[in-house]
Amino acid sequence: MTQETPIYKDPKQPVEARVRDLLSRMTLEEKADQLLQGLIGKDVNPNNLGGENSFRPTIGSILSYSGGSKARNAFQRIAVENTRLGIPIIWGYDVIHGWRTCFPVSLAQACSFRPELTEKLSRVSALEAWTDGGVDWTFSPMVEVAHDPRWGRVVEGYGEDPVTAQAFTTAAVVGYQGKTPEEWKQPGYIAACLKHFVGYSASEGGRDYHYTDISPRALWEYYLPPFEAGVAAGARTLMSSFNDICGTPAVANHYTETEILRNQWGFTGFIVSDWGGVSQLKAQRYSSDPAVQTVHSLEAGNDMDMADFVFTNIPELVKAGKLSIATVDLAVERVLRVKFEMGLFEHPYAPEVPTEESCWKPEYLETALAAAREAMVLLKNEKQTLPLAPSGLKRVALIGPHWKNNLVHIGWWGALVKDDEKHAPSLFTKAQEFFPDAELVYEQGCPAPSVKSNLETLAARDEALLQAAAAAAASADVILLTLGEGGHQSGEYKSRRDIALPPCQEELIAAVRKAAGDKPVIALVSGGRPLAFQDAARSLDAILYIWQCGYGASQAAMEILTGKVNPSGRLAMTFPRTVGQIPVYVNQHHPARFGLNEYQDIPEENGPWFPFGYGLSYTEFTYGDLSVTPAASEGAAAFTAKVTVSNTGKMAGSETVFWYLSDLEASLTQPLKRVIAFRKIDLQPGETREVTLSVTRDMLSYVRGDGSKVLEPGDFILSASGKTEAKFTLNA
Ligand code: GLC
Repeated sequence: MTQETPIYKDPKQPVEARVRDLLSRMTLEEKADQLLQGLIGKDVNPNNLGGENSFRPTIGSILSYSGGSKARNAFQRIAVENTRLGIPIIWGYDVIHGWRTCFPVSLAQACSFRPELTEKLSRVSALEAWTDGGVDWTFSPMVEVAHDPRWGRVVEGYGEDPVTAQAFTTAAVVGYQGKTPEEWKQPGYIAACLKHFVGYSASEGGRDYHYTDISPRALWEYYLPPFEAGVAAGARTLMSSFNDICGTPAVANHYTETEILRNQWGFTGFIVSDWGGVSQLKAQRYSSDPAVQTVHSLEAGNDMDMADFVFTNIPELVKAGKLSIATVDLAVERVLRVKFEMGLFEHPYAPEVPTEESCWKPEYLETALAAAREAMVLLKNEKQTLPLAPSGLKRVALIGPHWKNNLVHIGWWGALVKDDEKHAPSLFTKAQEFFPDAELVYEQGCPAPSVKSNLETLAARDEALLQAAAAAAASADVILLTLGEGGHQSGEYKSRRDIALPPCQEELIAAVRKAAGDKPVIALVSGGRPLAFQDAARSLDAILYIWQCGYGASQAAMEILTGKVNPSGRLAMTFPRTVGQIPVYVNQHHPARFGLNEYQDIPEENGPWFPFGYGLSYTEFTYGDLSVTPAASEGAAAFTAKVTVSNTGKMAGSETVFWYLSDLEASLTQPLKRVIAFRKIDLQPGETREVTLSVTRDMLSYVRGDGSKVLEPGDFILSASGKTEAKFTLNA
């Protein structure tokens, strides 16, 4: 670098020196532009503002642009080479579960209980998005702990347990960004974005975008932990959420965005609002005045304005003395810091290689298949109906609306994923491969769920389809039945008042059961959320929940059906018996009385249909006694827990050991049990493994409403997957 090279353009200079130098050179207008996130072109996002949006080369960020690297570079070249300071734009996109190679939706990933797989698939997503799309920043991971499956966005998160969500959040952040600042700045590593900060998943009644009444303790006990883990993993950005928390909108919430995030957790990156979140302060009846919207959002700690351009009023607000330049500088510093940290000044242009060269690589598709295999959950398997032996079957009925549908495996936020047969092979295609000697009889059986309207789905039925399905069932040796949600029934603005199967599918189950007599009826159920269909399920001999598992979905489902893969998924979110049972989740608090505390109009013993952590295997796992002994040496670990797990069946398999802690007495009431750790192990038939856990003081502590953690001596119970437990006492 020559001596007249400005400090901010010298990569050998410390990031903070480059930030300060660049900031000192910027005009008020240039600073304000850095806090805008705009759109460009008529991309796939229908929200976009009409045709070609005017391109503003000094803008801080562009989102949802799917024009590919070449076009993106053309715009970036104008920003870098044709403006006074040449500040690169940071290009964002919703790369939620894949850019081109499609992976299982996040909730399904969590059911694998393999965070290392999420790290791997996030790495692939980053490489494809950067190389093929010129994406520098993904609006992912969505990390919200969710208790209400009526809320359509549970599909985007890692389920109901804070510890599970923390593990997967960390994995995703590392996959996208790498582990260290040295990695962050390399090409192919993209900035992560923890969203939606915070509490959006507590949206009242499971409706979307609604008010959330979250107590300070619940905020710390349930909703903040995954964000804290993501910040600790180095996430460079967060996205503030649409909801207001007990009256203070998240986008203008100084307590969460500054006091917690910056002052307590030391976060140094920036926060972007969610789409229109700043202007929506009017809809929330917080303020209809754009000046107040801007000042309150910025002063609370929300640095960038997504898509609604309210922050274009910053220069006039500063000139009018309504907004301090110090507040503006603080936000601009954060944005510039991330741009320097992610190496944008050194590599502002993405590679320009053909999509076929950079995407869908065999190892990427293998990762997609591995993730699908581990995500699927065997919910029911009466009389060991599964696995099937294809050779013994002459006639297999393939009945249901999803056999020839590809989108059903893609789900919401499919980025640039193609839902065609070549990339997302249908279940029907794969069934032909896995049952080569059988006569396959296909019948749709009922209308497919409408992509447009849940009401249409609820009303749909077709007598002719139903009769044809019954006839096919009557003549087959085994019936494979596809059920559940279509590809777009879960996701944003997809809240549902009920989470049952649509009537036409319930009718189909009954008709098939009647026609099949005692022949096996096996269901493959798709969905982006838990569904509650326990009554209809009584007619099914086996249920494999295949979620929305991306490009590997159909292959993995057939491998499990035929025993090539032993299912190992476990539920990361509870399945209620009926929608009326919501909320029901793993770390609920203890009732004052048992027995009379449950719904008197649910016939079975109360509690959920399938609890968190539930999932069947083709083999058996037996737990030995659990021991808890004081830790040998003084330090963070207070106790050491040990348990043995044996594979006492005939097939290799994977078991997830869940460590549940019950605090029997505390100054603030505690959950009946809560997850403090989990570990998935692989066991050959006859193999026994000892699993140990260092039980730390932090694990034994509980959190108060101000975020402080309290460790109180007393009695605890530790359980391993609910199969074996030990009581122990912490004395001091
Ligand atoms: C949406 C979503 C958010 C997404 C953003 C950009 O409204 O709430 O998750 O990242 O807009 O597409």
